[in-house]
Amino acid sequence: MPDTHPPRDIPATLLAQLRAIVGERGLLTDPTDTAPYAEDWRHLYRGRTPAVVRPADVAELAAVMRACAAAGVPVVPQGGNTSMVGGAVPAEDGSEIVVSLARMHRIRDVDAVDLTLTIEAGATLKAAQNAAAEAGCLLPLSIGSEGTAQVGGILATNAGGNNTVRYGNARDMVLGLEVVLPDGQVWNGLRRLRKDNTGYCLRQLFVGAEGTLGIIAAAVLKLVPRPRETEVALCAVPSPEAALQLFTRFQGHDPAAVQAFEYMSGMGMSFVLKHIPGASLPLAAPAAHYALVELATPRPNAGLRAAMEQVLEGALEAGIVADAVIAESDGQRAALWRLREEHSEAQKREGASVKNDVSVPVSKVPELIRRASEACARLMPGIRVVPFGHMGDGNIHFNLEQPVDMDAAAFLARDHEIMDTVCVVVRDLGGSFSAEHGVGKLKPYMMPEWRGGAELELMQRIKHAIDPGNLMNPGKVLP
Ligand code: FAD
Ligand code: MLT
Ligand code: ZN
Repeated sequence: MPDTHPPRDIPATLLAQLRAIVGERGLLTDPTDTAPYAEDWRHLYRGRTPAVVRPADVAELAAVMRACAAAGVPVVPQGGNTSMVGGAVPAEDGSEIVVSLARMHRIRDVDAVDLTLTIEAGATLKAAQNAAAEAGCLLPLSIGSEGTAQVGGILATNAGGNNTVRYGNARDMVLGLEVVLPDGQVWNGLRRLRKDNTGYCLRQLFVGAEGTLGIIAAAVLKLVPRPRETEVALCAVPSPEAALQLFTRFQGHDPAAVQAFEYMSGMGMSFVLKHIPGASLPLAAPAAHYALVELATPRPNAGLRAAMEQVLEGALEAGIVADAVIAESDGQRAALWRLREEHSEAQKREGASVKNDVSVPVSKVPELIRRASEACARLMPGIRVVPFGHMGDGNIHFNLEQPVDMDAAAFLARDHEIMDTVCVVVRDLGGSFSAEHGVGKLKPYMMPEWRGGAELELMQRIKHAIDPGNLMNPGKVLP
């Protein structure tokens, strides 16, 4: 994105106030220091900001928000800045302050009886998973960016990921929240109750709001018992239809055991094998389509290995699977997952891409892949179709890579046209234009068409009621 506007001045008194609140260590104003916070990881959006504020605790965060509200200066909450939709990037005119949660990363409590983790928003998802594991539990949320993405970002985007098929999205794991409101008021809703019917469920308003209603400071997350057996297999499959049949076979065998079911195309896998050091395919030959399945159970001696072999043998006999490998160790399990998790990075290294994080009913995934592939090929001959993702949830990342002989900028200039081409099919199949990445800065233009009428009006009214000055992450989510 062009970098045409000079940073807009914010009142010197506000900067002095912020410095007094968070100290020198908590305030970045040098453009070299603030630049990484003003750009997304795909380099699609480059904003400007006069200051990045890094509060160390909720009291500092609340004081920062009070000061910004009094000065009428908008803020952009930022976690790990791994957003796929430019959600955490400030505006180009330098009018917004970035509030980074990175210094608020304490684990406040882990309770293996209540099965809860109370954790500050700036902790990475990986740190949250580790804290759960040390207590003998599992935080069943796993995404490729988990080493960088933060708990606050995960909740603000209602992240999905690999285990949604079994445990749901981030939304399903929140029992309580601590939120700093746009005027600096702190709502302490850090309850850890499994049952609590006392009025509107406010925490769910902030989950998935992408920082447009308030800043999540801490959360109580639900944990589950840790798995005692885990089996992972990579399968070459002849078609997306076969992948779906394989999924239903696993679900039919034991729905409680399917922890992840991911689809990958031959194109995406070829990018991973080409660009990711050490990646290799443990199958006899490359295939046009792949499925990655993970089974897991907290039950001891559940015989998961036998279950995996039984389903795969049946599928091989039926021609649903052409070849398969079952991991024999933790190292092999990680290596198989790496082939899937490195898709985003490999796609970035291959060139410019347009992402369509779409969902349809699970049964329609093969039709989505076929029809959207045909539509994109008609729109732009040579476009490379890279669908992959969470097939078990009906969530496919229907990503498109630039034609080999096309200029990246020329390709990206047509991003709306490409997204809209895919979305015509998605809409026809009863799907959504954003399954898990959110709306951010990239897709508010789609909201009137997809969520228009009473739904959008209600969202606007909620936004106005909580943030009447439009100071929370303006320009994101709502058109
Ligand atoms: P950021 O990018 O910093 O922010 C995202 C949004 O949340 C912004 O709107 C921001 O303003 C807001 N926000 C951040 N912190 C707070 C807070 N404390 N309070 C209020 N608002 C806040 N996403 C998935 O859902 N599933 C996946 O499988 C998945 N895989 C990914 C793989 C890779 C390699 C990458 C790079 C990204 C992937 N993502 C995935 C997208 C991204 O990681 C998620 O959206 C993640 O939840 C963002 O977390 P973050 O801390 O980086 O948030
Ligand atoms: C993933 O699941 O790996 C990401 O959400 C997908 C993407 O890069 O589009
Ligand atoms: Zn995903």
